[in-house]
Amino acid sequence: MDQQTETAMPATQRDGNPQGSRLHVRRFRGGTTKLAERHWVRGDMYATAFLNALSVVFPRGESFMIEALHPWKDRTEGQLREDISNFIAQEAAHSREHVGFNKGIIDAGYDIEALDRAIRQFVSFFSGCSEVTKLGATMCIEHLTAIVAAEMLKNREHLEGTDLELRKLWLWHAVEEVEHKAVAFDVWMFATREWSGARRWLTRSALLLAVSLSFFINRTRGQVELLQQDGLSKPNGWWQCIRHGFAKGAIGRNVMGPWIEFFRPGFHPHQIDDSELLIRGENMLAAIKLVTEGAAGDVVRTAPATQDRLAINA
Ligand SMILES: [Fe+2]
Ligand SMILES: [Fe+2]
Repeated sequence: MDQQTETAMPATQRDGNPQGSRLHVRRFRGGTTKLAERHWVRGDMYATAFLNALSVVFPRGESFMIEALHPWKDRTEGQLREDISNFIAQEAAHSREHVGFNKGIIDAGYDIEALDRAIRQFVSFFSGCSEVTKLGATMCIEHLTAIVAAEMLKNREHLEGTDLELRKLWLWHAVEEVEHKAVAFDVWMFATREWSGARRWLTRSALLLAVSLSFFINRTRGQVELLQQDGLSKPNGWWQCIRHGFAKGAIGRNVMGPWIEFFRPGFHPHQIDDSELLIRGENMLAAIKLVTEGAAGDVVRTAPATQDRLAINA
C-alpha cells in the first residue's frame, strides 16, 4: 500500500486538472425524444437494450449524485467548488435530456417500471448512509460512467447506424462524463483528507467492488427485462447480454483495463489521459451539427455511411 502517494492526492486535486481543461456546461437541447425505430442502435436489439437500460436509470442516478456532491460545495473553495457547481449543472442537464429519451423508450412499447424500481431501491439503500459514503458511492459510479463514456468516444462502432439526433445526445453526455470524471474523486479526497492512505484505499476499493457488482447485476437485469419484452426468454436474455457485452470489441470487455486501474494505490482519474477523446467527441458533435443543419430542412435521421464517416472523422 503506497500510503505516501494515496495521502498526497489532495495536493494534486488542489492544483486542479493536470490536463489543463476546465469543465464547461454546454448548451444542449435534444431535437427529438422519438426513437427512429424500436431497436434504434442499427436494429441491434442487444446494443439497444444496453443503452436503453442505462438511460432509464440516468435521471434518478444523476439526481442521487447531485445530492451527494451538493453539501460539499460550501465546504470547498476555488477550482474544486467551481467544479462541483459545473458538475451539478452538467448532471442536471443530462437528467433532463434522458427523461425525454426515456419517454421515447416507453413510446417504442417498452415497460420500464422494473428498471425504475431497481434504481429507486439502489438510491434508497444509501438514504441512511453518511455523506462521505454517498460521496464515495458517487465517486465509484462516476468511474464506471467515465470508462463507458470514454469507450463510446474511442470506438465509433458503438453508436454507428444511429439517428443523428439520438447520437448527438449520447456523444454530448459521453463528452461531459469524461470531462468531469475526477470531480467526485477530488471531493472525496477532500472529504477524507484526515484519513490515512490505507483507510482511503481500502474504502474506495471496497466501494468500487460493491458498486460495480450492483451495477453489473442491475443493469444486466434491466437489459434482460427489456429483451424479454422483445420475446427472449430470461435465461437466453442473460446469456446474450453476457455474450454481447463481453465479446471482442464489446464495451464490457474494453473497459476492464481502466476499471482495474482504480484499485491501484495512488490512482487518480486524470492519470488516464482522455484529452484526445474529448477533442474527438467535440469534433464529432460539431460534424453532426454541420450534417443536420446542412440538410436544409430535410429530415436527416439515420446517417448514411458517407455522412456517418464525416460525423465521426471530422
Ligand atoms: Fe451524466
Ligand atoms: Fe457524471
